[in-house]
Amino acid sequence: MVTQLRKSDPLILGIESSCDETAAAVIRGRALLSDEIASSSMVQAKFGGVVPEIASREHLAVVEGVVSRALKQAGVQKEQLDAVAVTYGAGLLGALLVGLSFAKGFSYGLGIPLIGVNHIRGHLAAAYLEDETLAPPFVTLLASGGHTAIIYTETETKFKVLGGTLDDAAGEAFDKVARILSLPYPGGPHVEALARGGKNNVPLPKMLKGNGGYDFSYSGLKTAVLNYCHTKEQRGEVYDCADVAASFQSAALDILVQKTIEGAREMNVKTVTAGGGVVANGYLREKLKCACNEAGLRLVLPEKRRCTDNAAMIAAEGLLQWNAGNFAPLSLNAQASISLR
Ligand code: KG4
Ligand code: ZN
Repeated sequence: MVTQLRKSDPLILGIESSCDETAAAVIRGRALLSDEIASSSMVQAKFGGVVPEIASREHLAVVEGVVSRALKQAGVQKEQLDAVAVTYGAGLLGALLVGLSFAKGFSYGLGIPLIGVNHIRGHLAAAYLEDETLAPPFVTLLASGGHTAIIYTETETKFKVLGGTLDDAAGEAFDKVARILSLPYPGGPHVEALARGGKNNVPLPKMLKGNGGYDFSYSGLKTAVLNYCHTKEQRGEVYDCADVAASFQSAALDILVQKTIEGAREMNVKTVTAGGGVVANGYLREKLKCACNEAGLRLVLPEKRRCTDNAAMIAAEGLLQWNAGNFAPLSLNAQASISLR
């Protein structure tokens, strides 16, 4: 979609460094001008997960270059910026501090406002860049490595968590199942690729918790996968890893689609959005498209690279905070966790 540029739209630089991606992006209003990213996941893969100290050092090594490239690609001089928006949490403290300190320097040096962005709100805001006409109310499926929830957005800055996981996040479950299947980190894309050649024929437990509300649990599902594989191995029986991947993927994701549609119906909204790394999953995207289609709901789905961690979504959330006049002091600190509820 071509987004109209208006003169009054603020020019915002977004910076993200909460985990192993160092990213910078520039937006003018809801138009995305650049979106740069450098990932240390190849380095982290050697250790089977993110090593916080390595992540911080990698951020430090590349942050300046990533921001310079984002400004250059956008055709923008730093003096033209109206604000700098940066992730202050949730995430790895050392990693967050690199982006946050860099952003503070920019804000102070240029005399422009600093906007502190909650990473999770960033994932929610990614959809605004996808469709210029998107406006609340809507219901969002949020599924990342740290959070999984169904969220009702009432206004640009007012949210209600309808429900979500009571233990592991969906992405975390994908990463753990990938380990069981001896697949590399990060596990999600590898499980998805393996599942393409498999059948959904491994019996796995239902994930629903409680009395039919929106809460569910991933830890039982992960344990069931582990038990299935171990039992087969102990008995000397062969099993098909692709079938395990396909069965897990369907058990882990079908429920998210079902609960999202139920949430949209209950809140009486016409629009559904989604965000977070797991929403890059092709199986989930197709299921969500079909379910929204059947239910007569409009689906605004960020493209895959804006579901996994990126700075465009941080700039997008920065714009919502700009509109609300929420600016941060230079004393803003990094926060390892921020409650969703
Ligand atoms: O949103 P994100 O990039 O970082 C967090 O904020 O956590 O999400 C990362 C998570 C990881 O657990 C990763 O395995 C998962 O998203 N993920 C996927 C896929 N791509 C990334 N899970 C399932 N299928 C995928 N294609
Ligand atoms: Zn994320």
